[in-house]
Amino acid sequence: MRAFVPALALLLILAAAQLAGAVDKFAVLYPADKGLYEEEAVSLVVRLGGADEVSYKLNGPKKGIILKKGKGDYLCGSLRLNRGLNRISVTAMRGGKEVASKEISVFVDVNTEPDLIPDDFTPPNFHTRQNEAPCTACHKFGGDYGESCFVCHKGLADNEYVHWPITIKGCLICHNTESNGLKYQALRPAVRYCKFCHGDKIAAWEKNYYRHGPTQAGDCTMCHDPHSSERQYFLRLQTTDLCVSCHQDKANGEHIVRGFSGKWHPVRGKPDPRDPSKELTCASCHNPHGSNFKHLLFMSSDPNKPFCTKCHMF
Ligand code: HEC
Ligand code: HEC
Ligand code: HEC
Ligand code: HEC
Ligand code: HEC
Ligand code: HEC
Ligand code: HEC
Ligand code: HEC
Repeated sequence: MRAFVPALALLLILAAAQLAGAVDKFAVLYPADKGLYEEEAVSLVVRLGGADEVSYKLNGPKKGIILKKGKGDYLCGSLRLNRGLNRISVTAMRGGKEVASKEISVFVDVNTEPDLIPDDFTPPNFHTRQNEAPCTACHKFGGDYGESCFVCHKGLADNEYVHWPITIKGCLICHNTESNGLKYQALRPAVRYCKFCHGDKIAAWEKNYYRHGPTQAGDCTMCHDPHSSERQYFLRLQTTDLCVSCHQDKANGEHIVRGFSGKWHPVRGKPDPRDPSKELTCASCHNPHGSNFKHLLFMSSDPNKPFCTKCHMF
């Protein structure tokens, strides 16, 4: 009996080592740990390395979601992240037992205050020949206008409002450059791409006497998602939220006039009298691109002009 106990222990250790050894190549390849993303739709790619089932949890104690798409040694899926910091924990199983797990953090930056972004987070930089190599057994990169991209990035179109170039899978209209060894990088400012198709409007805005800072700088994608969005005009945030993400002094709603009731003028949550199908937002009075009137207003707010009475019958 005495000799048997250490022998059993040794066997157990060996068995455990074998199990651990079997999954030592288990890895969560994407999303990249400490990745800094600009879109909520990202890939989830796991190298099984001996595991036979994988589940993941996104942000918190919800039940793990089991990934089923087994493709050789890889599990390919996609995720929809929240804005800001996300924690993803991935668990590998073998024969129903947990054998390995990995926790990664990803930050989705949509008009975030720069100092809220953790310093050590970096963009994914996936499309180097080296990173693509293990995928080429099953995936194609390029060689068309974007059909091949869609296989992995279809999540970018998974929204109510989809921008026309995405509906035709025309990814390479905009992602056709290679810089720093990275294929498909979109260059900045993004207006260079928008000009292909919205050139007339952009030219008209450039002729305005007053031009809005970010539009003038060509940073159209600070406000518009180039791919798709839950909101009309592919806006990255609801309009008033979008404006106050930069104009923070207007976030408390103290703007324009105080009525007899002592309340400030509304900037959201009411129908816009000039177009009742829309919500009243900052853009009901200000043009986000440009205007010939001071403060980018849709018309002069000179007291002798009917600015207020465009919406009110006082
Ligand atoms: C053994 C074959 C195989 C390998 C290797 C492989 N994949 Fe996949 N992957 C597939 C198949 C099959 C699909 C499903 C295609 C479809 O939906 O039409 C897929 C789908 C995907 C998707 C889309 C998932 C979704 O549900 O939206 C992504 C992202 C992806 N793969 C990324 C990768 C990356 C990155 C690599 C390399 C690190 C890789 N794959 C390696 C076979 C593979
Ligand atoms: C095998 C799957 C796969 C295919 C095919 C693919 N991508 Fe990607 N792509 C990824 C992954 C994985 C990332 C890293 C970001 C993530 O986790 O979603 C990425 C990131 C990107 C990025 C961000 C910059 C970077 O390099 O990380 C761009 C831009 C991009 N892809 C464009 C394209 C375009 C354009 C095509 C078609 C020509 C394409 N992709 C085809 C998987 C794929
Ligand atoms: C109208 C131009 C345009 C088209 C068409 C377009 N993109 Fe983009 N895409 C951009 C720009 C610009 C960026 C840079 C980030 C930004 O400003 O939003 C970007 C960023 C990305 C990213 C990186 C997001 C991140 O998290 O950092 C991916 C991935 C991507 N595009 C994939 C695609 C794919 C796949 C298609 C085709 C289905 C496509 N794009 C079509 C303009 C475009
Ligand atoms: C390949 C052509 C093409 C490119 C490039 C392109 N767009 Fe578009 N875009 C369209 C078409 C077509 C429509 C739909 C027709 C329309 O409503 O004007 C559209 C619609 C829009 C709309 C909604 C307009 C509305 O009235 O509903 C916005 C906003 C927009 N694009 C912004 C952009 C931005 C920002 C860029 C640059 C990052 C860009 N587009 C690049 C073709 C393009
Ligand atoms: C500061 C944020 C912001 C910037 C920067 C911006 N837009 Fe817009 N854009 C908006 C908002 C908000 C709307 C919706 C206005 C409304 O609700 O009436 C809009 C509407 C649009 C429309 C549809 C309505 C129209 O006027 O035709 C197009 C097209 C468009 N933008 C293209 C662009 C292009 C191209 C650029 C870059 C040159 C750009 N935008 C820069 C916020 C912005
Ligand atoms: C990406 C940051 C950013 C966003 C988002 C943004 N703005 Fe601006 N805005 C600026 C900058 C920069 C200026 C130029 C500096 C200044 O004069 O305040 C400016 C100037 C203005 C002005 C002119 C101020 C004056 O003194 O005449 C108005 C009005 C304005 N923005 C309204 C808006 C509205 C409405 C929205 C939402 C549709 C918006 N902004 C979204 C950055 C932004
Ligand atoms: C009902 C119309 C209306 C709405 C809605 C509105 N504004 Fe204004 N805004 C004005 C008028 C009128 C002025 C000029 C006030 C003045 O002359 O002192 C102005 C001035 C401004 C200015 C320049 C002067 C200053 O106070 O800094 C900025 C920036 C601005 N608005 C941003 C915004 C933002 C951001 C929103 C949404 C939160 C918004 N506005 C909503 C009518 C509006
Ligand atoms: C783009 C349309 C628009 C313009 C321009 C506009 N307003 Fe308003 N205003 C509204 C809406 C919508 C409400 C909310 C009405 C409701 O509660 O149903 C409102 C409410 C008010 C109120 C009541 C606030 C309260 O709750 O006590 C006052 C006062 C007011 N506006 C004054 C003005 C003045 C003064 C001007 C000109 C400087 C002006 N408005 C320009 C749309 C506008």
